[in-house]
Amino acid sequence: MKLLTVIGARPQIIKAAAISRAIKAYFSETISDIILHTGQHYDENMSQQFFSELQIPQPLINLGIGSGPQGEQTAKMLTGIEQVLTKQHFDGVIIYGDTNSTLAGALAASKIQTPVFHIEAGLRSYNMTMPEEQNRIISDQLSNICFAPTQTAVDNLRREGFFDSPTRFHHNRERRIILSGDVMYDNTLFYAQLASKQSRLLLDLQLKKDQYILATVHRNYNTDNLQRLTSIFQALTAIANETTVVIPLHPRTKKLLATVDLPHLDRLFFIPPVSYLEMLVLEQNAQVVMTDSGGVQKEAFFFERPCVIMRPETEWTEIIDHGAGILADADTDHIVEAYQQFSHCTIHFPPLFGDGHAAEKIVNEIRSYLS
Ligand code: UD1
Ligand code: UDP
Repeated sequence: MKLLTVIGARPQIIKAAAISRAIKAYFSETISDIILHTGQHYDENMSQQFFSELQIPQPLINLGIGSGPQGEQTAKMLTGIEQVLTKQHFDGVIIYGDTNSTLAGALAASKIQTPVFHIEAGLRSYNMTMPEEQNRIISDQLSNICFAPTQTAVDNLRREGFFDSPTRFHHNRERRIILSGDVMYDNTLFYAQLASKQSRLLLDLQLKKDQYILATVHRNYNTDNLQRLTSIFQALTAIANETTVVIPLHPRTKKLLATVDLPHLDRLFFIPPVSYLEMLVLEQNAQVVMTDSGGVQKEAFFFERPCVIMRPETEWTEIIDHGAGILADADTDHIVEAYQQFSHCTIHFPPLFGDGHAAEKIVNEIRSYLS
């Protein structure tokens, strides 16, 4: 059985590590997994470092698309992936999450009747201004199997009529929705110990457990909107008066910060994007995590760290429901208050994201679906 895994952005490379690991451990004799990198992320510290660190097979195909306007970037990916799929036969295409690479993979495969398997399906922000929301809704619709990481994601799909729909794919195959658990949780369980054993980052940066804040910002509506960017960084610089605020800086945010004149940025501890194991160590030891990232808010939860979510909404609503996250939007006062609230409170972190074996379950389901 020959599968094509389509990835392009940092979090997809990390998610693909879980699937590659499961294939290698349990299905190497029956499944050949070819990785296609669209090239959406291309800096060494946004891409290649993850292949090396997480021992993911190198992509056999790299389309080298790079950055660009949304439509142009997606169109180039679509063209490139279609060419690959028409030259070689694949039994199925695996896509992850909600980036432009996800959408291009789903479109290219479904148009030539190749089964699509969507990992991290059913997430919704209900904010259609987000390119990610557009990408995930269309990708879910085109997928033969939607692998939902949480019950909330299954419920979202049900509400959209996925169960009721008589949808049939090529060869009269039915659509399936499977509650698989979260491959990012698999990864965190698998790598957390290794990360704390191996990484010297805390020592190198002279950071002590529970004595710093970890922040990341990259969401397009936070970076491209000057008012929101300013409000967020005003909050972070205010908090930096009290404690160290470490920010592994996404290249998008770096570029935009360089174009504006925001006061007190020198109070912040900016570092380049770090490796996955280093990020786990930073998350595990932070007093509070402050982020607009989807993956980082979940990893904060896995490590039982409270999280200030600098967005108006989240797809991972369970984190809010359990009091482990506060939606502070890009509101300076609200962000600072949320941080202060989390500096002294006890939170319960139940296991909501599966049992750490989502990847095995996913690969097994794909195998039986295609057999
Ligand atoms: C993309 C995803 C987003 C995901 C994020 C993960 C879409 C629509 N967005 O956002 O859902 O959360 O990846 O990090 O697919 N850049 C570099 N070097 C790189 C990559 C990007 O300098 O290696 C800069 C470029 O200026 C580029 C900008 O970052 O224009 C944005 O990159 P892009 O991939 O378009 O979107 P992200 O914001 O990274
Ligand atoms: N991450 C990383 N290094 C960093 C920042 C993030 O390895 O400097 C990891 C993080 O641990 C998580 C993933 O990247 O696994 C999240 O990706 P990102 O925030 O870029 O995107 P999102 O999850 O919002 O789509």
